[in-house]
Amino acid sequence: MSRPFTQPTVVADRLDAGLRALAGLVEPGRPGWTRTALGEVDRDARELVRRWMADAGMETRVDGAGNVVGRLRGTGSGRTIMLGSHTDTVVGGGRFDGTVGVVGALEVVRALRESGRRLEHDLVVVDFFDEEPNEFGLSCVGSRAMVGELTREHLEMHDEEGRTLADALARVGVDPGAALTARADLSDVDVFVELHIEQGPYLEQQGASIGLVESITGISRFRALFSGRADHAGTTPMDVRRDAGCAAAGTVLAVERIAGEGALTKGTSGAVTFTPAAVNVVTATAEFRGEFRGPEAEWLRHAQDRLTAAAQEEGERRQVGVDVEWLPLQEPAPMAPGVLGTLTGVVDALGLSASRLFSGAEHDAAVLARSVPTGMLFVPSRDGRSHCPEEWTDLDDIAAGVTALLHSVLALDEG
Ligand code: GLV
Ligand code: MN
Ligand code: MN
Ligand code: MN
Repeated sequence: MSRPFTQPTVVADRLDAGLRALAGLVEPGRPGWTRTALGEVDRDARELVRRWMADAGMETRVDGAGNVVGRLRGTGSGRTIMLGSHTDTVVGGGRFDGTVGVVGALEVVRALRESGRRLEHDLVVVDFFDEEPNEFGLSCVGSRAMVGELTREHLEMHDEEGRTLADALARVGVDPGAALTARADLSDVDVFVELHIEQGPYLEQQGASIGLVESITGISRFRALFSGRADHAGTTPMDVRRDAGCAAAGTVLAVERIAGEGALTKGTSGAVTFTPAAVNVVTATAEFRGEFRGPEAEWLRHAQDRLTAAAQEEGERRQVGVDVEWLPLQEPAPMAPGVLGTLTGVVDALGLSASRLFSGAEHDAAVLARSVPTGMLFVPSRDGRSHCPEEWTDLDDIAAGVTALLHSVLALDEG
């Protein structure tokens, strides 16, 4: 006879305490709530998450790629339900991006254990390493490694000084060789579900408390290098200059122009550097990183061609050498219809107001979706703000999202 159990219930105060504890672990002297994956503090945060998992009765391990993995044993179907998100942040980021999904998944475990309810499935929670693009331009490092998509080329990605991603990983205790072979056997995983803040204004506009994600954006990222010539700013006539900075600036504007043509398409430039960084020297070399996003891979490929052509034209006009390096395109990721159907039914049954939506933000769920049936739940972001210190989601909304996650797990366990 199975033990009696009470209805598992999400405790908002525990969510709040977890989010506050993580918000206390930030890089000194940096803006907002900065906890970058290749910095030291992120390591402390992931160790804290591992301890929380252990305290919640999970078997824990850190895989070769730095992912923190906790497993709550089920009653023995041999199958697994996986939840998770990330705890690293962008520079100057907020307190909720990623952390809500990790703290929320842990709360699901705590609520289940407290109630005495045992799942048939094992429940695995993952805090994925380095979801945000690191300074080498690579995002979702941990989830890529887990599905076997981290490559030697990724590890050789380098910054201007020639430092490689492999070196940076080693510095934070992630052995690059182990990361390359960290692919997990996911054949027992029936489903992956990630809870996340929306990071945009749609749910607030709709007055909905839950977002049911239909698909996640495709992304195409590049690094553009411009090689001109340093010259005196006061004596070199405008028409003979080989100003790499102006060619880069023209290309930044081309990103904006191309992306502005579609309703859901986006284009952004960042990490711009001009060398030498002097006001009285014509810029000799310039570099920046950029990206396009959109729901269709075909548009992304078209945008790549047009941007490369625009950069070349900017260079030719000024006798500036141009090199645009594209990273492999990340295809748009539709969520599994069966999982979306289950999540929709659960949210309806809970009486929560929900809207279906497209995610313009990148997520580990997009990577996992290529290997296992995947679904995503969103909670609203105040004023749609994210990747900034003003990022905010009310605790009530977070608790509602975690309740939806908990009941999704219960439904998936029975399904
Ligand atoms: C992840 O936060 C992204 O860049 O969308
Ligand atoms: Mn983010
Ligand atoms: Mn995120
Ligand atoms: Mn199953």
